[in-house]
Amino acid sequence: MTVPLRIGMLGAGTVGGAMIALLNDRDDIPAQVSRALVRNLNKPRAIVHADALLTDNPEEILPNSDILVEVMGGTTLAADLMLSALADGKKVVTANKAALAERWDEFVPYMQQGCLYYEAAVMAGTPVIGPLTNALRGSKPLELHAILNGTCNYILGQLEQGESYQSALKEAQRLGFAEADPTLDVEGFDAAHKLTILARLAFDPGIRWDDVKANTHGISHLTPAIIREAMEDGGRVRLVGSVYPRDGKWQVTVRPVYLDATHPLAGAETNRNGFFFNGDAVGEVYIAGAGAGAEPTASAVIADVISAIRGVPGPAPIANAFVPPADYIPEDLGEIKKHVPQS
Ligand code: NAP
Ligand code: HSE
Repeated sequence: MTVPLRIGMLGAGTVGGAMIALLNDRDDIPAQVSRALVRNLNKPRAIVHADALLTDNPEEILPNSDILVEVMGGTTLAADLMLSALADGKKVVTANKAALAERWDEFVPYMQQGCLYYEAAVMAGTPVIGPLTNALRGSKPLELHAILNGTCNYILGQLEQGESYQSALKEAQRLGFAEADPTLDVEGFDAAHKLTILARLAFDPGIRWDDVKANTHGISHLTPAIIREAMEDGGRVRLVGSVYPRDGKWQVTVRPVYLDATHPLAGAETNRNGFFFNGDAVGEVYIAGAGAGAEPTASAVIADVISAIRGVPGPAPIANAFVPPADYIPEDLGEIKKHVPQS
């Protein structure tokens, strides 16, 4: 009989709790959770055998795990513990885009070894990291535009229906879409973290987080009047992250844009995200699906655990930057037709 692999978990909150429940429901995955790190042991949780699994001592996790699953968040302790596990030769699965975007250089050697798995970090259970680092590698990238934050998309949809910004944000938190610090969502930084990862995987591995951050605008300043005006014109305001060639460089930016109703990204509702990629040989590719929430994210984490167990290497960035094409005219997202104010 195969001995199940021990999964040590950092975090058992929205995503971690769902992941434990999904794993308990699967007898085809030869792994079980051995320990899970939380901050508050007294918090009520719907986790089976919580007393045996949960600990608030970070030192108990690595010695009791063969694979580490990080669903805790943050750029300090979570990143440090992942790097320790990787240095110990363990495979790590993470949903933490902030740590990857901001501490990329420390993780790259392990990405190149195929030991780090992070499909859940971008668009949750809707696969984009897999396609971008596999099937789409046969083409040179021309541009990418994506809705990457479920919280903002949900809020914008609620504003369209006449809800207030504050009540929409509160509901996005209740539904488990928002980050522990929702400023990351509404000021565009969560989308910028994800876009930085995508840009480094497929366009230029040297894209700097500080440059993307400086080109990031969120949605907190948008008024119901701006949303209404867009709707009266038959369009929608959405927070879009883009990578496209401009003046011989890859421009990497997150900002609210006006989308014509016919644009494929305009259809994204609630927590759905959308990814639009144009490659020189493959042409236009569009992927859409749930981009936030407990179960959609846990689904990607489970898939990565399966890949790690099977020995399928995790995704790695391209080795060298693609030269931005000089003669290519990128997509007009409607910013000229109707300028959406940016904070
Ligand atoms: P969450 O509900 O806030 O869960 C975080 C978990 O980590 C909790 O169990 C918390 O403990 C624990 N934790 C946090 N800081 C800790 C510390 N210093 N020491 C010990 N334990 C600590 O967050 P989440 O929504 O599950 O998100 C987790 C990660 O997944 C984040 O990186 C997030 O960006 C990413 N992600 C989330 C989603 C989503 O839709 N929610 C989607 C994709 C990716 P307590 O339970 O005791 O508070
Ligand atoms: N807070 C994130 C969002 C979670 O709203 O998209 C998914 O990464």
